[in-house]
Amino acid sequence: MRLCLLLFCVTAVRGWSDTRIRKFKKEFLFGVATSAYQVEGAWDTDGKGESIWDKYLHDHPELIADGRNGDIACDSYHQYKRDVEMLRELGVDHYRFSISWPRVLPTGLTNDINEKGLQYYDNLINELLKYGIEPMVTIYHFDLPQSLQELGGWASPLVVQWFEDYTRLLFDRYADRVKFWITINQPSFCFESYGGITAPGIKSKGLGDYMCVKHVLLAHAKAYRLYEKEYKNKYKGSVGISLSLNFGHPLNNKTENQEAAEIFRDFTIGLYMNPIWSKYGDFPKTVRNRVMKKSKEQGYEKSRLPTLSSEEIKLLKGSADFVGINHYTSVFVEARTDSDEIFEVPSLQDDIGVLLTQSDEWVSGKSSWLKSAPYGIYKLCLYLNEKYNYPQTFVTEQGWSTGTSLNDRSRVDYLREYLIALLFAIEDGTKVMGYTVWSLMDNVEWNAGTSERFGLYEVDFEAEEKTRTARLSALVYKRIIQKRVVEKDWTPDSWKISITPRSERDEL
Ligand code: NOJ
Repeated sequence: MRLCLLLFCVTAVRGWSDTRIRKFKKEFLFGVATSAYQVEGAWDTDGKGESIWDKYLHDHPELIADGRNGDIACDSYHQYKRDVEMLRELGVDHYRFSISWPRVLPTGLTNDINEKGLQYYDNLINELLKYGIEPMVTIYHFDLPQSLQELGGWASPLVVQWFEDYTRLLFDRYADRVKFWITINQPSFCFESYGGITAPGIKSKGLGDYMCVKHVLLAHAKAYRLYEKEYKNKYKGSVGISLSLNFGHPLNNKTENQEAAEIFRDFTIGLYMNPIWSKYGDFPKTVRNRVMKKSKEQGYEKSRLPTLSSEEIKLLKGSADFVGINHYTSVFVEARTDSDEIFEVPSLQDDIGVLLTQSDEWVSGKSSWLKSAPYGIYKLCLYLNEKYNYPQTFVTEQGWSTGTSLNDRSRVDYLREYLIALLFAIEDGTKVMGYTVWSLMDNVEWNAGTSERFGLYEVDFEAEEKTRTARLSALVYKRIIQKRVVEKDWTPDSWKISITPRSERDEL
């Protein structure tokens, strides 16, 4: 029923309807993702330094929904061979994982290089390549070395150089084997970090968060240029950035809500896309003007949104081979009226000044913010095409949270419906290189601990060996990868998963 609704919606918008079977091309890459803090554990093993997440959750265990932090997590530091075995069971093309900065550079700086940490990623990469799985490395996924935080972290302009030095170390060591690089995961983390919600838990809304965004973008661009200049010719890899791109639909056709949705998208999509992908670079004009106006009204000398110099604009423009799309859900956007809820001042929310809701008709995941609205990925893709002239994209995250059950029907529905919507977007011209499910297995969902499970594999966190067991969705995803189509009625004969030779894949 929901599937039909989705198809109706998408086909209605495209102005025609048909039920042809659509296939993912042979070159299309299917994969899964994790990140270091969320799966590795071994938080202080073999010389690893402390990260901001280690510190934050050690200092504030009361903030973790079920009290489980990343000290041990899935113990992937010791169990990476089992992880690769699961990837082979799924038959994926690529595995997106992140490198823990303080594991390889305990002080954050290159004065102290932790060989054992580097060796761990060597082993993981080699194990992947042994079985023909492409490593996709995220250079930064939220776990800044605590020592660098104490020197100002992402609010300091110095971080741009620290990040470039760290990145050079990784390129020198792994670029011969890693062809897909993601500099930074979701720059919008700045708004949570400096909103006091997530590590390092600093409260500087509407100020520190914007400084963080600027430095994250510059750090990304420096890393991109470094690769372009010194490694690209030799290794021929690609470097992108993963953005959290959920979609804001206007609540209805009223002009004020259409405008509100556009403002919302400028702040949540354009803030990161414009500097890299737009013709003139820089932050979107609407964002610059709004924050400037509000800042003046609030008594600030200058805009709270830092400016980008002409050199910085040049550095950023075109600094990505692809945009990594992390897309989970959608929201409805409504213009604010006088009686509406008042946001904290200053803050991003107040600068945007709109109301957000989600439909009661959308199925809910275990996470309060996560509702299934597959049409959103289609709309997002078309929006990016129109606004940024058909950028090369890679879906670097999409996922669904449940409880612990192995019978995760809702995840199966979610993945199928979103993949169908993505096929429509591809047919309408979107350039998508691949798709990545978040996540390979249950892991530490930041402040939610292990209370929200995103895994295709369930993890028994009580067990010493952190036993991993395939869920229904693992079997369904495996089948999609094998057949390159989404079959809405397929169910497995048995729930046993085993390694299938690649030669048994259906290819176009
Ligand atoms: C995005 C983040 O990159 C990842 O760390 C997180 O676990 C998922 N979303 C799910 O919330």
